[in-house]
Amino acid sequence: MPQIPVKIHELTVGQLSARSGAAVSALHFYEAKGLISSRRTTGNQRRYQRDTLRRVAFIRAAQRVGIPLATIRDALSELPEGRTPTREDWAHLSEAWRSELDQRITQLGRLRDHLTDCIGCGCLSLENCVLSNPDDVFGERLTGSRLMKENREGA
Ligand code: FES
Repeated sequence: MPQIPVKIHELTVGQLSARSGAAVSALHFYEAKGLISSRRTTGNQRRYQRDTLRRVAFIRAAQRVGIPLATIRDALSELPEGRTPTREDWAHLSEAWRSELDQRITQLGRLRDHLTDCIGCGCLSLENCVLSNPDDVFGERLTGSRLMKENREGA
């Protein structure tokens, strides 16, 4: 990834894209959704504060683990406006996300442990199936797939 000299405080969308690895279209989308912001030059070009790089890295990492953009936006809105977030600001945001990430890890563990059973089952039971009910809203999942009664009788 290309380095941006420290003395540069604002980035063009191309620089932000190159440094963050996010496509320009993705950056425009993040901006349209209120996740990042820019100022416009007199020539109507976007300029991003340098700390936007960290915001984009945060957004992309959160998206990779399936966290919805609205949740990411809510988290980023906790950062201070009008100044560059400090290490403490980011640490606070990170701490607030611990339970969100723990929840995701639990969901992914359930999916990992039950997906093979589901592929061989096909019942898509709202009660027991990790595909139909990934949040396990009916309580702790029993191990293995659960064939529906009518499926067992026909077998
Ligand atoms: S398809 Fe998931 S438990 Fe049957």
